[in-house]
Amino acid sequence: MKISPLIQFYTSKPTLKNDKKQSVQCPVNSYSTKLSAENYSANFMPNFTSLKYKAGDNNYCDTSFFRDVETLSQTADYLQKNFPRGTDIMDFASSSGQEAISLHALLNDKKKRKYTIHCYDVSGNIVEIARLGTHPVYSAAADDAFLLAVSTRDKRQRALKKAFEELMEPTLPPSYKMNDPDFIDFVSKMYEGDFKIQYFKIRDKYRNNFTFNVGDIRNIDEILPDKKAGAVLFRNAFYIITNNFTLNEFNYERELNNKVNKEKVINEVVDKVYEKLLPGGIFVLGDNEKEHLYIADEHLTESERLASYYATDVYKYSPLYNALNKDGRFSPICTRRIRASIGYIDAFTIWKKNK
Ligand SMILES: C[S@@+](CC[C@H](N)C(=O)[O-])C[C@H]1O[C@@H](n2cnc3c(N)ncnc32)[C@H](O)[C@@H]1O
Repeated sequence: MKISPLIQFYTSKPTLKNDKKQSVQCPVNSYSTKLSAENYSANFMPNFTSLKYKAGDNNYCDTSFFRDVETLSQTADYLQKNFPRGTDIMDFASSSGQEAISLHALLNDKKKRKYTIHCYDVSGNIVEIARLGTHPVYSAAADDAFLLAVSTRDKRQRALKKAFEELMEPTLPPSYKMNDPDFIDFVSKMYEGDFKIQYFKIRDKYRNNFTFNVGDIRNIDEILPDKKAGAVLFRNAFYIITNNFTLNEFNYERELNNKVNKEKVINEVVDKVYEKLLPGGIFVLGDNEKEHLYIADEHLTESERLASYYATDVYKYSPLYNALNKDGRFSPICTRRIRASIGYIDAFTIWKKNK
């Protein structure tokens, strides 16, 4: 049997029918309405810091420091090895800036500024929060909770904390509204009061190492027109522009109302990212299953299908995988094992431009 090079199952047991709780993933704006304490199982991991937007804006701005640290570390290692004199990094979907700060810490660039990180997000609100420069860390419920631990035996976490503290210093809570009160209320109850938030800001001497601007990856060709980049990041955001959800989040009505030609959107972005990257440059994706498992717009044949749930099919070769692979333009150089709604999958999170 031919196995998809993108996905290999480590467990073939589908979790959906037996236990819907097992793989709950929810956008930030839905936890308080859709998730009650009962279905908020131990398997649900809110690995983000929640920042609520204004009404009408999209709410998918969840982020945290050192989210999917394996991919970020490999990104930093690759850049140091292949672009030792530095390069421009474009971080799209940068949200409030935690991702770029984490990458900067891992690059350990200090004041040399060899690696300039240009951050862009399509939301003006979140760019404003990034520029204001105060960042929350939660004592639980996020990938970066270890930053608040007094001590840890984990060597890697100790190193990350040290790199973080080189860049960041504690600060007072912001005077503006930042955290989503529903989320805070929810996790406080979940941790029975044993939940706190600490705030950090970038040390003054490093503040100019980051720029935060409104920008849409779909227009990457018009941004920094005189430059080519060593890395473009677009992590945990492809699902927003393609309206792609996990199988257990899939909602037929929503799908009908928001028809998006996933293939077209993805092809256009990948073509432009390819043009923007230097030879040997990398395109860095997230480790959310919605970036890698694409729900098909039509019924698929058995050979095209990776999995299905009731009447919904998932592509074996996703439109993103096909676009990146087209004409051998990119090769995957980092694989992450992800717990997805259909079981464990391997997904490629870093793609190198070949020529
Ligand atoms: C789930 S957050 C991901 C944040 C961060 N990359 C991470 O992985 O932690 C998604 C972000 O993508 C932004 N976004 C959505 N579509 C975008 C686009 N076309 N270009 C740039 N940013 C976009 C949203 O505003 C949101 O802040």
